[in-house]
Order: sequence, then structure tokens, then C-alpha cells
Amino acid sequence: MATIAATRLAEALARIKAVLGPKGWTAEPAEMAPYLADERRLWQGRAALVCLPASTKEVAAIVQIGAEARLPIVPQGGNTGMCGGAVPQSPDTVLVNLRRMNRIRALDRLNDAITVEAGCVLADIQNAAEDADRLFPLSLGAEGSCQIGGNLSTNAGGVNVLRYGMTRELVLGLEVVLPDGRVWDGLGALRKDNTGYDLKHLFLGAEGTLGVITAAVLKLFARPRTVETALIGIRDPAAALELLARARADSGDTVVAFELVPRACFDFVLRHIPGAVDPLAARHDWYVLMEWAGGDLGGALRERMEASLGEAAEAGLLRDATIAASDEQRNALWRLRDSITESQKPEGASIKHDVAVPVSRVPEFISRATAAVEREVPGVRVLAFGHVGDGNIHFNLSQPAGGAQDQAARTAFTARTHDINAIVHTITAELGGSISAEHGIGLLKRAELPHYKSAIGLDLMRTLKRAFDPHGIMNPGKVL
Ligand code: FAD
Ligand code: MLT
Ligand code: ZN
Repeated sequence: MATIAATRLAEALARIKAVLGPKGWTAEPAEMAPYLADERRLWQGRAALVCLPASTKEVAAIVQIGAEARLPIVPQGGNTGMCGGAVPQSPDTVLVNLRRMNRIRALDRLNDAITVEAGCVLADIQNAAEDADRLFPLSLGAEGSCQIGGNLSTNAGGVNVLRYGMTRELVLGLEVVLPDGRVWDGLGALRKDNTGYDLKHLFLGAEGTLGVITAAVLKLFARPRTVETALIGIRDPAAALELLARARADSGDTVVAFELVPRACFDFVLRHIPGAVDPLAARHDWYVLMEWAGGDLGGALRERMEASLGEAAEAGLLRDATIAASDEQRNALWRLRDSITESQKPEGASIKHDVAVPVSRVPEFISRATAAVEREVPGVRVLAFGHVGDGNIHFNLSQPAGGAQDQAARTAFTARTHDINAIVHTITAELGGSISAEHGIGLLKRAELPHYKSAIGLDLMRTLKRAFDPHGIMNPGKVL
């Protein structure tokens, strides 16, 4: 039996290598290593082959050969995912990284649409849109390395969801290689198309379990002529929500980003990120990074923002604020925010949560969850930050101070993951929330999903999975 399986694997791999040519694959352990470890180094993956296809046709051939030999196939983008969705788990896996499929196929200014291959890095798509005086609004800390195929497959969120929605809402069409190797050409560029089930939505957020996305048509938007960015020191998360409600009204509903940051995050960033400086004179317990973007050319947006913040200060909602006076200052404010994840690494082991609750219940979630985890692990450092305007909090915990270099302390903290998750996710569920707002399920939350998703919902998901992938070869062991 083992010999037959080994022969079948060797034959399939040889066929795939022949299709791809020498530039299109590697089986060298050193070259494979970066594709096998995940961003958070929580898992060490295993695979038989890393494929780097250059066309949809090549992806289809890989999948067809893999399907015939019943080999596991794991699609991968920039490998920045937070839940281990792109980690190959068995030694016979064929990993398909899309990075060589990085062409912008077309940009239609009048239809406000861009057609891209799945391996395009997100920042390259933003730049291509900007070159055509358009905006592609998806924006997140990993945008310099994540790929649009990964963004589509995780239905990524990021900092502009408040105004433009999640990735799902930015898609007009998709091209997908199905688990049997057929290519579904759903690359329509229509704003309206009610011809039955909207199939693209099944692949968006599916984390590679239903097929390999090879291309997409994305929506473009008018580029805002004026952008104003403020860092605001506030008392607590409740003040942040009051501030958001005012800002939306005062700005004529042009708030594009509204990020909540506790002081602990800035302490980490100032400690570990070279060049980071505190933009406000005094320390504050909480901060908001807020951005307005609008169409006016004459500076009126800034005046409105100043007036709005002035009135908020008089109402006792904010303690101090600075509005960026240049692109350089604006970028520096965003660097502080975007460096939080990086700055958490040298502080030792972390246990992370990516929850959503109704926006109005964010303060209650943060205070209840913080008190509960502090009771459970004395000294734990809570970093509850993120996209508060979407009700999405990254409730990230760092091990107690001083133990980052102590392996025993790291292990002891990590060993609490299961208990801590149960505490945080129970509170989330009690508040009507979700255990995954924007990062997905992957390997990380697979075991927990059945506790928080309805039995009927899970049954429908399994039925879809069987219909698309009866042999269970497409990213097995993820999500379900
Ligand atoms: P990968 O990690 O390679 O893969 C993610 C999943 O998608 C896997 O299940 C994989 O199998 C699947 N997949 C990848 N490509 C394809 C494809 N072509 N077809 C089918 N399936 C595919 N996420 C947010 O949502 N919001 C944030 O604000 C945010 N900020 C981040 C900040 C930092 C510093 C970092 C490191 C990460 C952040 N993330 C954020 C998480 C991550 O960047 C996103 O989940 C991103 O969408 C993953 O893209 P990727 O190309 O790296 O995908
Ligand atoms: C972010 O918004 O910075 C990431 O999604 C957060 C994380 O590290 O959990
Ligand atoms: Zn986020």
C-alpha cells in the first residue's frame, strides 16, 4: 500500500514539475522554508512541493493532477494570515503560491474597475489605481506583502471598512480553479447581475477550501482630494464611540478610518520600532486615530475637523489632539498604528483574538474581557485595539512583563491559550459577537467554531464543501 501511495505521489509530482518548468517549483528544503512557517510562527508546515505557477492554465494543471492523485492542495498568497490558513499540514501536500501571477490585466476608468491576477501584492494594486487617479481602498498593515488572492480568500477588513466595506464588497468578478481542475470564469465587471446565485461570494472568505482564486475584477473609487488625519487622546472606549458619532455628523459622513489604540500599544511601539515618536505631549490612557477624506479642495475639511475636535474637547470627550500638517506627519501617525503587531513580538508570547461585537457594546466587551483575563493570568498585558468603528477589536494579550527571553515563562503563558480563548469568546458570544471579525478561522479557530456557529449553519457549510470538493483535497483541515 505504502509503495503504491509513494509511486502515485512521485508520478504526480513529476507531472506537475514538467508542466511548470524549472522556474515554477521548488523541493529544496531551504527554499521551501519561508512558505512553510506562518507569520506568527505558531505552526511548522510540511509539503512535498512548493509550486509557483505563472498562469491560470498552470494552476488548473496542478490542481487537476493533484485531484487525480488525491493530493492535498494548499493555496497561498503573501503568507501574512493570522490563523494558519496557508500552512500545509501533511508531507504529500502540493503548496500553490500565487506570487508569480502578479499582472494587472486591465483597468477600465469609466467602469471604475481593475482586473488583477491573484498574486498581485495589495500595495501594487493601490498604486496602479492611484496612477489612474482612482482609489482602491482596501488598506491594512501587511499591504506591502499580502496578495489580493489572500485578501479575497480571508475577506480581509483593515482600516477603511467604515467607509468602503470589507473586501467582499469591493469585488465585481472572480476567476477560480475548482478542486477538479476546471476553471470557473466569473470575471464579470457588472454592478448589477441577478442571474441566480452569486457564486463569487462562496469563494470570498472561504480561505482556499473551495478552490484557488486566480484573478479578480475589483471596484475602484474616486480619489478623495483632501485627507485629514488626527491622533486624539481620550479617556476611554466609551468616549471614542461618542467622538465617532459626532465626527460622522460634523464631517458630512466622510470618516474613513477610526482606530482605537490603548496606551500599552504605543508603549510597545515606542520601545521597539526605530524612529517612532510620541506625537502628543502627555500620556493618555486611550487614543483614536481618525481620518476624514472628502472632495473639497479649499481646506474646508480641515477647518471642519478642527471645529469638531474643539467642540468635542469642550464637551469633555477628548484630552488632546494633533492633526497631521503634512503627508510625512500623516504617514508617521499611521506607522505608529500599523506597527502594533510587529512591536508585540519582542514582548514575548501572545494570545490573540479578533472579535466583533455590535459597535455600541465595544466598551462593555473591553472592560469585561480585560477584568476576566486579568483575574485568570495576573500580570497579563492587554492590548485591546483596532477597528472600533466596525465593532472589531483585536483583543491581543502579551505575557506578563519581563519573561520574553524565558522559554519556561513563554510556554506557561501559551499553555493558557485554551482557557483564555474560552473566557474571551464566551463574553463575545454573550454580547452577540463573532470570534472572527476579519482574520478568518484557518487552523487557529477550527476547533472552536462549532461552539459558536449554529449546527444548521455548519451543516450548510459542510454540504457546500462536499459539493465543491467531494474528495476533500482543497486546503484540508482548515475552517471545517
Ligand atoms: P495568506 O496568509 O497567504 O493566506 C490566507 C488564506 O487565504 C489561507 O487560507 C490561504 O490558503 C488562502 N489563500 C491565499 N491565496 C489564495 C488564493 N489565490 N486562492 C484561494 N485561497 C487563497 N487582516 C485584516 O483583515 N485586517 C487587518 O487590518 C490586518 N492587518 C494585518 C497587519 C499585519 C502587520 C499582518 C502581518 C497581518 C494583518 N492582517 C490583517 C492579516 C493578513 O494580512 C490578511 O489576512 C491577508 O488578507 C492575508 O493575505 P495573504 O496574501 O498573506 O494570504
Ligand atoms: C491589525 O489590525 O493591525 C491586525 O489585524 C491586528 C493583529 O495583529 O491582530
Ligand atoms: Zn485588523
